[in-house]
Amino acid sequence: MPHQKSTLGEFIIKNQSSFTYSTGELSSLLNALRLAAKVVNHEVNKAGLVDLFGDSGDVNVQGEQQQKLDVFANKTFIQSLKNRNIVCGIVSEENDEFITIKGQDKESNGKYVVLMDPLDGSSNIDVNVSVGTIFSIFRRITPVGTPVEEKDFLQPGRAQVAAGYVFYGTSTMLVYTTGDGVNGFTLNPAIGTFYLSHPNIKIPKNGSIYSVNEGNYSHFPDSVKKYIKYCQEIEDDRPYSQRYIGSLVSDFHRNMLKGGIYLYPNSTVNADGKLRLLYECNPMAFLAEQAGGIATDGQVDILDVVPTNIHERAPFYCGSSSMVKKLLEFIHK
Ligand code: AHG
Ligand code: MN
Ligand code: MN
Repeated sequence: MPHQKSTLGEFIIKNQSSFTYSTGELSSLLNALRLAAKVVNHEVNKAGLVDLFGDSGDVNVQGEQQQKLDVFANKTFIQSLKNRNIVCGIVSEENDEFITIKGQDKESNGKYVVLMDPLDGSSNIDVNVSVGTIFSIFRRITPVGTPVEEKDFLQPGRAQVAAGYVFYGTSTMLVYTTGDGVNGFTLNPAIGTFYLSHPNIKIPKNGSIYSVNEGNYSHFPDSVKKYIKYCQEIEDDRPYSQRYIGSLVSDFHRNMLKGGIYLYPNSTVNADGKLRLLYECNPMAFLAEQAGGIATDGQVDILDVVPTNIHERAPFYCGSSSMVKKLLEFIHK
């Protein structure tokens, strides 16, 4: 028997009473995500095998149709959320339009919307490097019982009710916040249970890692180039180490535990950077702030950006507070 550590299921129930409008629906929503995470985890773990034994590339040994992992993850999370009457709409990286979810009756089509990146780091799937799922949850603005509208999704990140990620790594973790600190749960795969392994995570105030796709250096704004040179200088506690996995979830998770800064700047080729505001930057920014860190687009806190498009991108700088403040000095010079 593992030592009496709280399971994710127990933790969700225990914390339900701390939500202002608690009716159990958010708990139910989080449980839907918990279930989908386990299903996707199972599929991620056998991805290599499926490839090895797949017949003609699209049928696996059981005769099931093979799906690309991001398509599988998308379907799994959507289905799990649809099965309960709690969500009225979903935005997913994999769907151009937002998805409307109808309740069983007029009054019961859910008061929450979910925005997600069902599989983050997809370029890392084929090479057995960690991938993740990112999610962001808002209370809808339009009345329950009416169809969800685009404006329900276009809320500033500050209004998030909960956010988190699943990290399919050396071990699988689910890390989330409901605005009362950040907690991390590790999956025991033998029994399919998430245990509270990282209570009340705090990002170290300072760190010695900078994380950026430096291959794009020539395209970066001068201020960011100068900050990168600063990270490499021999002075005080520098040079910092450079670590870049290329899965936001993995890079963010490492920085959160060890301290560090993550940069995905705007550039001469991507005017708004690459990362998506609503289902990559916002949830990570909520987690970062709850853990004592900072997330900014270079001008304002990510959580204060008012979105105008469900798939819009934003420059993203995030991590240990002292490091992000230093970067901002360079940007505002
Ligand atoms: P996704 O796999 O969901 O499309 O996201 C990829 C993102 C993010 O995970 C990662 O940090 C970044 O793209 C990597 O981009 P570069 O390859 O341009 O560095
Ligand atoms: Mn992504
Ligand atoms: Mn993705």
